Amino acid sequence: MSSFGCWGLPAALLALLCCPGSGEETFEVHIWPEKLAVETRGSVEVNCSTSCAKPEKIGLETPLNKTLLKYDPQNQWAQFLVSNFSQDTVLLCHFTCNGKQLLKSLRVSVYQLPTQVILKLQPPRVVVGKPFTIECTVPDVKPLESLTLTLLRGKETLQNQTFGGAALAPQDATTTLNSTASTEDRLLSFSCQAELDLRPHGGYIIRSISEPQILEVYGLPGQDSQMVILITVVSVLLFLFVTSVLLCFVFGQHWHRTRTGTYRVLAAWRRLPRAFRTHPA
Ligand SMILES: *[C@@H]1O[C@H](CO)[C@@H](O)[C@H](O)[C@H]1NC(C)=O
Ligand SMILES: *[C@@H]1O[C@H](CO)[C@@H](O)[C@H](O)[C@H]1NC(C)=O
Ligand SMILES: *[C@@H]1O[C@H](CO)[C@@H](O)[C@H](O)[C@H]1NC(C)=O
Ligand SMILES: *[C@@H]1O[C@H](CO)[C@@H](O)[C@H](O)[C@H]1NC(C)=O
Ligand SMILES: *[C@@H]1O[C@H](CO)[C@@H](O)[C@H](O)[C@H]1NC(C)=O
Repeated sequence: MSSFGCWGLPAALLALLCCPGSGEETFEVHIWPEKLAVETRGSVEVNCSTSCAKPEKIGLETPLNKTLLKYDPQNQWAQFLVSNFSQDTVLLCHFTCNGKQLLKSLRVSVYQLPTQVILKLQPPRVVVGKPFTIECTVPDVKPLESLTLTLLRGKETLQNQTFGGAALAPQDATTTLNSTASTEDRLLSFSCQAELDLRPHGGYIIRSISEPQILEVYGLPGQDSQMVILITVVSVLLFLFVTSVLLCFVFGQHWHRTRTGTYRVLAAWRRLPRAFRTHPA
C-alpha cells in the first residue's frame, strides 16, 4: 500500500512533465483585427480563428451584444458582430481544443467624433491695431489625446493645439488665440480644423472644419484700396498724356502734308455761288 503511494505521485508528475504533447496538441488562436477604433454606438466584425483541427468550443467574451455571423468549422474560424460600443473595452476570443482552452484579446478604443467645430471671433468688429480673440470649441470629443485643433487664417496656420488626459467620457476642447487686427485680416477668412488621429488605435485620421468667419476690420481706410486708386489714376493720366502726344504728332504730320490741298479746297469754296455757300442750318 505504502510503496504504491510512494510511486503514485512521482509517476503522475513524470507523466505531466515528459509527455505534454501525447494527450493534447499545441494550437494557436488568432483574432482579427489586432486593434480597433470604433465610433460610439458603432459595431464591428471580429474574426476568431485557430490552428486546432477540431475545436470543441469557440466563443467571444464581451459584455456587449454579439451575434455569430458565420462559423466555418472546416477552416477553423468564426465571425462575430459586436455592437453598441460605449467605452474602451477588450474582446476575448477563445477556443477549446482537446480539453484545453486558449484566449486571445483585442483592445477596442471607442471614439466620438466632434459633431460641431464652433469658431468665434471676439469682438466680431474691430479697429485696425486693436486686439481680438479667436476661440474654437469642439464639444463632446473622445479621445482627447488624439485631438489637434488648428486655427487658420486663409491657408496659414496660426496655432496648433494638442490635448492630454485619458478621460473615459467625451469632453469639450477649446483653443484660444489673442491677436491684433491688421488690414490683412479683412481680406482672409478664419477657420478652425479639428483633427482626430486614430492611427495608434487602429483607425484613421478624421478631420472636420468650422464655418469660415470674416473679421470686420474698420476705422482706417485700407492701404490696399488707396494703392489701387493711386495706381489707377496714375495709369489713366499716363495713358491720356501718351495718347495726346501721339495724336498731336500724327495730326501735325497730316496737316503738314495736306496744307496746299486745304488751300485749294478753300479757294474752290470761295468760288461757289453765294446761294450754295449759305449754311443749310
Ligand atoms: C477569418 O480568418 C481566417 C483565417 O485568417 C480566414 O481564412 C477567413 O477567410 C476569415 N473570414 C472572414 C469572413 O474574413
Ligand atoms: C442588447 O440588445 C437588446 C435588444 O436589441 C437591448 O435591449 C440590450 O439593451 C442590448 N444590450 C446592450 C448591452 O447593449
Ligand atoms: C446601446 O447602449 C446604451 C448604453 O450603453 C443603451 O442605452 C442602448 O439602449 C443600447 N442600444 C441598443 C440598440 O442596444
Ligand atoms: C498643425 O497640426 C497639423 C495636424 O496635426 C499638421 O498637419 C500641421 O503641420 C501642424 N502645423 C504646424 C505649424 O505645426
Ligand atoms: C487673451 O487675453 C485675455 C485678456 O485680454 C487673457 O485673459 C487671456 O489669458 C489671453 N489668452 C491667451 C491665450 O493669451
